Amino acid sequence: MAMIRVWDLPTRTFHWLFAAACVVAWVTGDDARNTHLHTFAGYCALGLVLFRLVWGVVGGRYARFSSFVRRPRALIEHISDLKRPLRTHHLGHNPAGGWAVVILLTLVLLLGISGIAVLGGEEGFGPLAGVLTIAQGVAIHALHEWLGWVLLGMVLLHLAGVIFESSLQHENLPRAMVSGNKQGEAADAEPNNSTRIAIAMVAIITLSALINLKPYLSQDADNPYQPYHQPPLVQNTLWQESCSECHLAYHPATLPWRSWQRIFYEQENHFDEDLALDPGDVTALLDFSRTNSAEKINREISWRTTHSLNSNETPLRITGTNYWKATHADIDEALWRDERVKGKFNCNNCHRDAEAGSFSNGAMALPR
Ligand code: HEC
Ligand code: HEC
Repeated sequence: MAMIRVWDLPTRTFHWLFAAACVVAWVTGDDARNTHLHTFAGYCALGLVLFRLVWGVVGGRYARFSSFVRRPRALIEHISDLKRPLRTHHLGHNPAGGWAVVILLTLVLLLGISGIAVLGGEEGFGPLAGVLTIAQGVAIHALHEWLGWVLLGMVLLHLAGVIFESSLQHENLPRAMVSGNKQGEAADAEPNNSTRIAIAMVAIITLSALINLKPYLSQDADNPYQPYHQPPLVQNTLWQESCSECHLAYHPATLPWRSWQRIFYEQENHFDEDLALDPGDVTALLDFSRTNSAEKINREISWRTTHSLNSNETPLRITGTNYWKATHADIDEALWRDERVKGKFNCNNCHRDAEAGSFSNGAMALPR
């Protein structure tokens, strides 16, 4: 018995890059401000899955699916045999590890595909932009989150299995995945390390990180980085002039038509102000808001706002809608009173594209 190579370099490189991509995607998935990083990590994970599928056919001896994908019965036998460590020892993946590989790859493949669908549907970005509706994007978003939780469960199970088997076999499995070596007979060693393929993998990931994250890392106050730009919404000069005196001229896409009607019918008492608009202007403004209200606009804020309201609700405030309250629930109360924000209604102090009516992910920033 000697230390022999079991895991070739591409398999090990894949394993740790894949783990890192999943961790980054998990950590950045929660906050819409990190969508850019999240998307990058997701693409990396998806690319790594595709690599692993190929490597599972053409790769090293222990990396091939044919060497470790077994029938479910083998997994049950393996688990019931665990009391006899020698019988359950495997140089490559044991049946449980093999199933972990298959399930984790499948889950991340589904997460990658559904992620691209969410990006296309909700943000109008990526390969599926324009193909899917917001409603489809929102539905797939729920599935994507659910898959994320299943992945977390599977990763925890995988970690528990690694710790358990490591102590059972007196063999440090995580270290073997770093060095590539395990105790075994010289004849069983993996002859080929495929170093060049592993170097190419790292180079591709590094290069795509540089290209994708450069504009994000080099942004400043004058040149903020705003990914996920969609075609601008229609603007109206009269609307801009009439509504931008006391606050941002909220785009009509932020509220349903009935809310705008109510705002104009009650214009003499607009949050204790008299807008004093003349009837001709009111007609023109009503007309603009009717054709560009949330029901008419294909944007996430419009869709989610209208769908968060009951049909008998006519909010006067965007900040009064269920959707707005839910998306801002995590923001510290003190921040609303902060000098740089000055109230919830000042959307533009945190959303750089508020004026345009977009409110896209990646264009929001809390004042530092
Ligand atoms: C004379 C000042 C003034 C003008 C002009 C004005 N508003 Fe307002 N508006 C206010 C005040 C004050 C508030 C309440 C702000 C706050 O929350 O303290 C408000 C709030 C709003 C809100 C609710 C914001 C929220 O909390 O979600 C909407 C919507 C709105 N205005 C629409 C309009 C539109 C449309 C116009 C143009 C036709 C307009 N306003 C013009 C003073 C004005
Ligand atoms: C204090 C800064 C701040 C202000 C002011 C603010 N927002 Fe936000 N908003 C945020 C942050 C931060 C998020 C991201 C929350 C998250 O995803 O965890 C967010 C999320 C959103 C989203 C969801 C975006 C998405 O795709 O998930 C919308 C829509 C939105 N805001 C609209 C508005 C509107 C409309 C206003 C004004 C009436 C407003 N916000 C005022 C900070 C602010």
